[in-house]
Amino acid sequence: MQTLRSRCPLMLTRFVRYGWLVLLAFALTACHQDMYQQPSLRTYEPTSFFEDGRSARPQVPGTVAYGQARTDEYLYTGLIDGVEGDVMPFAVSRELLERGQEQYDIWCSVCHGVAGYGQSMVAQRGGIVPANFHQQRLRDAPIGHFYNIITVGVYRGDPAAGGYQSMYSYASRIAPEDRWAIAAYIRALQLSQNATLSDVPPDQRSTLGN
Ligand code: HEC
Repeated sequence: MQTLRSRCPLMLTRFVRYGWLVLLAFALTACHQDMYQQPSLRTYEPTSFFEDGRSARPQVPGTVAYGQARTDEYLYTGLIDGVEGDVMPFAVSRELLERGQEQYDIWCSVCHGVAGYGQSMVAQRGGIVPANFHQQRLRDAPIGHFYNIITVGVYRGDPAAGGYQSMYSYASRIAPEDRWAIAAYIRALQLSQNATLSDVPPDQRSTLGN
């Protein structure tokens, strides 16, 4: 019968004899780079596959690229013949205003303040002057103006002549419907700061107290 002592050298010899096979298996499996070096092309990478040498292919005539079926120009630009419109492109409901409030608080209030006076921590500490929505010019502005500003941002002067962008465009971050919801909410904010008792339905005036 074998004692533990006499078995140990046997295990060692076995390991030396076959263990390298296991190690080799590990070493070889790590060498495949298929996922890392894929045959796909990076954006704008040249290729000899197509005659013109470009990997990006022109749009096939008669097709519409994903996300580009923007047939309702007003919904996407806020402009009618190049001029800011003064109507909402769809009906306004309480839900829409609540959505607008939520989106405004997320995206705009950090600079323009929750009530839209242009007072915020960013304004105080950031050395910028976000517009006050309660100034007369913006109270008179058509609703399309707010949509348009969210979409393109604000430029001070011509960028080619040393002008700069003083407010960023939110087009890539806020969906068109939400931009309109924010515009509608800003209008509500403006009304809220200039409301009189006669704006309150008569049957609800008593709930306001004195
Ligand atoms: C990072 C700060 C910042 C954020 C966030 C921001 N704005 Fe502004 N906004 C500004 C500044 C600064 C100006 C003033 C630009 C100027 O007068 O040059 C401005 C100006 C405006 C104006 C006035 C344009 C005019 O006619 O003069 C509107 C309207 C406006 N912002 C709407 C919005 C809305 C809506 C959002 C949210 C989607 C938003 N802003 C988010 C900084 C900001």
